[in-house]
Amino acid sequence: MLKIMKYLKPYIGYILLAVGLLFTQAMCDLSLPDYMSKIINQGILMKDNGFILQTGGIMLLISLGGVIAAILVGLIASKVGAGVARTLRRHVFEKVSSFSNAEFDKFSTASLITRTTNDITQIQNLVTMMIRMMFYAPIMGVGGIILALSKDVSMSWIIILAVVILIGLIVVISIIVLPRFKKVQSLIDKLNLIVRENLSGMLVIRAFNTQKFEEKRFDEANKDLMKVNLFVNRVMTFMMPAMMLLMNLISVLVIWVGSHRVGAGQLEVGDMMAFMQYTMQIIMSFLFISMMFIMIPRASVSGRRVSEVLETELTIIDQKNALPIEKAIGVIEFKNVSFSYPGAEEPVLHDVSFVAKPGETTAFIGATGSGKSTLINLVPRFYDVTEGSILLDGKDIRDIAQHDLREQIGYVPQKGILFSGTIESNLSYGKKDASEKELLEAATIAQAKEFIDLKPEGMKSGIAQGGTNVSGGQKQRLSIARALATKPQIYIFDDSFSALDFKTDAQLRAELKKNVTNATVLLVAQRISTIMHAEQIIVLDEGHVVGKGTHQELLKTCEVYKEIALSQLSKEELGNE
Ligand SMILES: Nc1ncnc2c1ncn2[C@@H]1O[C@H](COP(=O)(O)OP(=O)(O)OP(=O)(O)O)[C@@H](O)[C@H]1O
Ligand SMILES: [Mg+2]
Repeated sequence: MLKIMKYLKPYIGYILLAVGLLFTQAMCDLSLPDYMSKIINQGILMKDNGFILQTGGIMLLISLGGVIAAILVGLIASKVGAGVARTLRRHVFEKVSSFSNAEFDKFSTASLITRTTNDITQIQNLVTMMIRMMFYAPIMGVGGIILALSKDVSMSWIIILAVVILIGLIVVISIIVLPRFKKVQSLIDKLNLIVRENLSGMLVIRAFNTQKFEEKRFDEANKDLMKVNLFVNRVMTFMMPAMMLLMNLISVLVIWVGSHRVGAGQLEVGDMMAFMQYTMQIIMSFLFISMMFIMIPRASVSGRRVSEVLETELTIIDQKNALPIEKAIGVIEFKNVSFSYPGAEEPVLHDVSFVAKPGETTAFIGATGSGKSTLINLVPRFYDVTEGSILLDGKDIRDIAQHDLREQIGYVPQKGILFSGTIESNLSYGKKDASEKELLEAATIAQAKEFIDLKPEGMKSGIAQGGTNVSGGQKQRLSIARALATKPQIYIFDDSFSALDFKTDAQLRAELKKNVTNATVLLVAQRISTIMHAEQIIVLDEGHVVGKGTHQELLKTCEVYKEIALSQLSKEELGNE
């Protein structure tokens, strides 16, 4: 929570101004009962109408001053609260953007969304409330006590009684309510998780007819949240009438005791009224303070959740003296690379070594789960190697700035991802200043031009969120074109041709061969036909390299490769190629 406080720093001027205004407001509010006692004592009892009007006028002006101060403080508080929330949200977003996959595995996406929205709103509410009350309430409380005592010391036990009852009430409420606040945030996390999964998995849910099951799952989470919220609110609702009752009882008590004293000539009526008002102000200020004590733990739960994100140590960071690279040559060397996912016991890759050269295609093949995606994801440093090293042009990639490194790489993920916008905006995603000609060229090589031309709006055709309005194969071709448009020195295709028919696959590879002549191509594929012309094929089996060479060499030397090849091609085809 304290860490969040540093976000208030830029607003220190505003906060000081607010404190000044609050002081004014408190003074205005505190001076009113005194004027009233004068009106009663000197005006009403002496029947001096002129004095009543005059003092009444002064009171109106003072109230007006108090109201203006209160409004200004309200404006300042909202501004500071909203400003702090905005900065926090930006920092959380920036931090999350710099997360590597290892950190993403730690927080669920749903939780990250709750933290960026709901949790930060809690903090915003607290900041706004604090500014409005933190200074006002103590000034009111202390001022009220001093002024009340100046009117009549002998009734001070009433104030003490009121405060003791009030504190007792607040303690009871806090004990009941506080633990539930912690629960609320994690329940919201759960609800968000279910909503997210449902929205993105709607097709599967429909196909398996599991709407009822999902509804039930959602209902349960929703009901849990409702129960806790309801409970908290019920307790809070009980608090208001209890406070009102307390205030009224205290007023009666003041009048009861006071009137006896007035009767005995020890106290003036006006002073008794003023004493009563001061007592109310004291109770109110304690009420405000107690509200803050309830809000602070709630917001500090949120504060902790937000700072958890902000303080997550990044596993992949740039070295301070990272080596700059302008344009890489593109020689990638894996030197005895082993890798295990964070938290996993078994390594996924064991002692992998190979060299991929520019102008050549290095292909990876192996059963599902053999570690192909894992291996090539190490090149753009989505994860860092556990043992060994990866060199680019002889430099360890951990010594190169991530931005520089990734600029050399055109990456096509295994699962095509497009962003909402147009085909054009997606193709130019990696190179914002790409000309139309460059984009068309990329689309042509990626065999995407044909279906783009068929669309009435061509390149300007819309792409829905997540690219749901293009087919799987079209999505892959657009992803490939997007990588091609950046003209990188290194290409990574993770099973990027899997959704293409054989003919398109062949055409695409032919075009690639023709146009991408001196880049280093890393290509993962399941189909032998996609990779058999590669200069180098690396066969993976459960994370071990079990074969390395050309198609013909591997057929003779590598059992695993031969098995895969035989399962896909006929003997004649194998012989002919
Ligand atoms: N983020 C992750 N955390 C932990 N383990 C993972 C993670 N991603 C993958 N794995 C594990 O690593 C192994 C290799 O996965 P990988 O995705 O590299 O396989 P692959 O060869 O690309 O398979 P496919 O052909 O199906 O794409 C698998 O056993 C998988 O369960
Ligand atoms: Mg894979």
